[in-house]
Order: sequence, then structure tokens, then C-alpha cells
Amino acid sequence: MNEGIRLLGTDEPLPMELLLEADPSEEMISRYITDSRILAAEENGRMIGVCVVLAVSPEIAEIKNIAVAERARGRGIAKSLIKEAAVYAKREKFSAIEIGTGNSSLDQLALYQKCGFRIAAVERDFFTRHYPKPIFENGIQCRDMIRLQYKL
Ligand SMILES: CC(C)(COP(=O)(O)OP(=O)(O)OC[C@H]1O[C@@H](n2cnc3c(N)ncnc32)[C@H](O)[C@@H]1OP(=O)(O)O)[C@@H](O)C(=O)NCCC(=O)NCCS
Repeated sequence: MNEGIRLLGTDEPLPMELLLEADPSEEMISRYITDSRILAAEENGRMIGVCVVLAVSPEIAEIKNIAVAERARGRGIAKSLIKEAAVYAKREKFSAIEIGTGNSSLDQLALYQKCGFRIAAVERDFFTRHYPKPIFENGIQCRDMIRLQYKL
């Protein structure tokens, strides 16, 4: 098995299918993707995970999107992508890395806290304001954005 994580070149095609797994709106993706760098996890020449990092200020890098192909989940690939994103952000001299997720994304909230992130803020009604249709996960409506931060 040949696997690894690398930064995608800016001229490489966008892994849109994976990006849509984490963010259901292509319009929202188009707003951040051109200014971001993409870390890609590959296995036997196929892309199985992505992590999109955007500089939101000179100090803060934000993970805007993280997704692992369904067949490859539960093997620590998201954890490795987050670790690589932190290495990349530290090398680029950011002082912290942030990530936002929905109040209903219970697995993701567990994952990020296991990676060392702490809850830093809550943006109430973010999802009800920015997405055209109601989103439900785990039987909970996704309304609020939970912002988590990891100091580098
Ligand atoms: C979220 C996602 C990226 C996780 O990818 P993954 O490669 O399966 O995750 P990993 O295997 O690296 O790690 C999962 C970790 O979170 C833990 N975890 C997940 N759900 C959990 C839960 N409900 N309670 C406790 N821990 C949980 C796992 O146990 C594991 O930790 P461990 O190594 O200590 O056991 C993947 O499920 C995905 O692509 N989902 C769709 C897109 C998405 O929702 N993206 C995030 C948008 S905010």
C-alpha cells in the first residue's frame, strides 16, 4: 500500500467530489478555494482525503474543509491531515490554526478536540443565515458555527 500526504499544486484539478462531502454548497467552496492551499491524502495514486487551509489573518490559518472518502474513514486519515495542516501552518509562521463546524457535527467535534483543538467562539445562526436549506445531522438542526482553535 502506497500512501502519503502532499500539498496539491495550484494548477492541479480541484477534488470537488471530496470537497462537497464537507461543504454542501459549491458556491461557498468557490469563495475560499482559490486563495487556499490543499493538502491531499493519496493511496495507490487515488485521492482519499483533502484538507483546505486558508490564511484568514497574518496570525491565523483556518481549515476551511476536511473530508475523507467514505471507504477510507476510521483509519486516522483525518487526524493525519490535521497534523500535516498544523505542520504546514507552523512552517508558514502562523500562530494558531482554527476550524469551524456545526453544532450538530458531533463526530467532528470529537475529532477536533482529540487533535488538541479548544472551543474558542460560537457564531449563532451561521448556518441558518448562509445555507439555503435546513441541514440536519444526528437528529439535530445545524444552526450555529462552533469555532475551535489550536495554538501552534
Ligand atoms: C469527519 C471525517 C473527515 C473524519 O475522517 P476519518 O479519517 O474517518 O477520521 P479519523 O479516522 O482520522 O479520526 C476519527 C477520530 O475521531 C474519533 N471520533 C469520531 N467520531 C467520534 C465520536 N462520535 N465520539 C468520539 N470520538 C469520535 C475517532 O474515534 C477517531 O479518534 P481515535 O483515533 O482516538 O479513535 C470524515 O468522516 C468525513 O469526511 N466526513 C464527511 C465530511 C465532513 O463532515 N467534514 C467535516 C466538516 S466540518
